[in-house]
Amino acid sequence: AQPWRGVVREYADRLPVTESTRVITLGEGGTPLVRAPHLSALVDGEVHIKVEGMNPTGSFKDRGMTMAITAAVAEGAKAVVCASTGNTSASAAAYAAQAGLTCAVLVPEGKISMGKMSQALAHGAQILQVQGNFDDCLEVARKLAESYPVFLVNSVNPSRIEGQKTAAFEVVDTLGDAPDYHLLPVGNAGNITAYWAGYQEYARPYVNPHPGTSDAELPAAATRTPTMWGFQAAGAAPIVAGHPIDEPDTIATAIRIGNPASWDRATDARDASGGLIASVTDEQILEAHRWLSSKEGVFVEPASAAGVAGLLAQHAAGNVPAGKTWVITVTGHGLKDPQWALKGADGDDVTPRSVPFDVVTVADALGLA
Ligand code: F0G
Repeated sequence: AQPWRGVVREYADRLPVTESTRVITLGEGGTPLVRAPHLSALVDGEVHIKVEGMNPTGSFKDRGMTMAITAAVAEGAKAVVCASTGNTSASAAAYAAQAGLTCAVLVPEGKISMGKMSQALAHGAQILQVQGNFDDCLEVARKLAESYPVFLVNSVNPSRIEGQKTAAFEVVDTLGDAPDYHLLPVGNAGNITAYWAGYQEYARPYVNPHPGTSDAELPAAATRTPTMWGFQAAGAAPIVAGHPIDEPDTIATAIRIGNPASWDRATDARDASGGLIASVTDEQILEAHRWLSSKEGVFVEPASAAGVAGLLAQHAAGNVPAGKTWVITVTGHGLKDPQWALKGADGDDVTPRSVPFDVVTVADALGLA
């Protein structure tokens, strides 16, 4: 089989590129869809986890960034800018490095994880810690791109959504059809917008606007679209509240957002699919985080567990029908923000025991003796 070529080339017939486009790629996409046996047993259905932490910079942002940086290069941009809670900046910095572009990132001061900060630094981005939250950073980034020669790569840029919709294509290509339900975290609301766009597109016969890259006409790949369930952190749940949150707060720093840019498109996805957008507490997020790592074998950053937290909460409330197929996107790798793994369920630090280098003592300590 041919090696995976990254989402832009793999889905070129459905993306705004041609054969001659210079594609900036790190081989993103093609991420595992892992069956979760314990969640499946709990809900008496089939639960699959789309493990987006397996992308090159460790989050789903790479799908949109390959497209956004490709577009920046096509436009002759020399510099890109983004506001970020961390993952977008890590991704933008990596793709900009390969493209030879200057990358500027604006992050909320003191509120991004060390793993993400270290990625942006390693890739040579110019990082500014803004005295404000993500929403303030995005406002400055947008104004900067309006008035200065710098290309905005946040998800308000349509090419980001175009790239990210490929995750829905992959789910359908793997399962053979759309699942009954798709669950995911919601922050700035770009990803729920992208999945919904992707699922809708795949459920229609498709006429290729760029003939020459692939077949000019494609049959529908899916017979249906899923019900979309999005989950915000309780301290940063503007869509649930129905108004912006001035001081969003949650340990899930990736989704610490009070005024999502794609708000209307998220509520469209919810309403058109007959779905919901609800909130989960930090405690529920950490419980789901522990469930994923200790039972399913999947290590994620806290925000990424919001979809699983949502499934557990909806199941506890009796809202989860049996016999359904569920896909839950876990958005970023556990190594992005590993501090939460070092705490037990009680919140106390867990420190591994120290032992001498003696096999009997080690066997004893492990309860094998
Ligand atoms: N999960 C993770 C790990 C994220 O980094 C983000 C967003 C989301 C979920 C929410 O996705 O914004 O499309 O609704 N992170 C952005 C960033 C804001 O700057 O990295 P969304």
